[in-house]
Amino acid sequence: MLSFVFVMIIMAQSSAERIIEVIDEEPTIKDKENPVTEVKDGSIKFENVSFQYSDEQNEDKFALKNINLDIKAGETIGIIGGTGSSKSTLVQLIPRLYDVTKGSIKVGGVDVKNYEIHTLRDAVAMVLQKNVLFSGTIAENLRWGDKEADQEELEEACKLAQADGFIKEFPSKYETVLDQGGTNVSGGQKQRICIARAMLKKPKILILDDSTSAVDTKTDALIRKAFREEIPNTTKIIIAQRVSSIEDADKIIVLNEGKIDGIGTSEELLKTNEIYREVYESQMKGGDEDA
Ligand SMILES: Nc1ncnc2c1ncn2[C@@H]1O[C@H](COP(=O)(O)OP(=O)(O)O)[C@@H](O)[C@H]1O
Ligand SMILES: [Mg+2]
Repeated sequence: MLSFVFVMIIMAQSSAERIIEVIDEEPTIKDKENPVTEVKDGSIKFENVSFQYSDEQNEDKFALKNINLDIKAGETIGIIGGTGSSKSTLVQLIPRLYDVTKGSIKVGGVDVKNYEIHTLRDAVAMVLQKNVLFSGTIAENLRWGDKEADQEELEEACKLAQADGFIKEFPSKYETVLDQGGTNVSGGQKQRICIARAMLKKPKILILDDSTSAVDTKTDALIRKAFREEIPNTTKIIIAQRVSSIEDADKIIVLNEGKIDGIGTSEELLKTNEIYREVYESQMKGGDEDA
């Protein structure tokens, strides 16, 4: 028994040392002196942006290579590309989850490095495919986006995200308790709650990284319609596997191996971009697949 306890103490000690190492790590992303504390609008500009995850100066290791983008406030941008083409990497640079290796990114005309980090991240809401809901009521989960939001604001955001309807069908409505991991709601319902939660932040830029994958195509279209009509000034960036999710975007970016392979409307890309045309044709042939 004693020797067992002794082993446990040794193990705990090394864990504690590792925790301290993590705590002591200097954050690489820090505020500048006198940072900018207001984001003017949701315009985004990438200028010659290259990015690598590791510090090795190895050209082959760049996840993004020489990206140039000019996105106006309020535009809807679709991003499509194979797994590993750096779609997620590209959008993560906008709220400065990582810093560019070369080049610069401007949001609202200001280099992201010049903002107070909280200001920037409040203005950029990101919804991921694997969103996290915690155990608690739906209302509590939503207020994670804005703890001051009143019931009316919750419902407004949920209507936009096409979540209000199914929430009101639950006997306890917005007070419905989600169990651990939210297993009492479907994948598509979870994704819609997460979109509503992001909406409550009233972001200038809204990024959906494959976050309507479990939503049926019809509801998916209704969400995009609501985006267009209700939040015209918010810049929307939608990463999707389904062409139908991005087809009506103002601009579609086709990424391939960390480079922009094509950029334009769906109509333009069908004429000029082979990757886009292939994906489009393979998905449209069998009719709309409903996930
Ligand atoms: N945190 C990370 N550290 C190192 N490499 C990563 C990290 N995240 C992604 N990568 C690599 O960067 C490339 C692009 O990944 P990602 O942006 O996730 O692609 P996509 O979203 O298009 O599937 C891949 O080669 C991937 O392995
Ligand atoms: Mg991804």
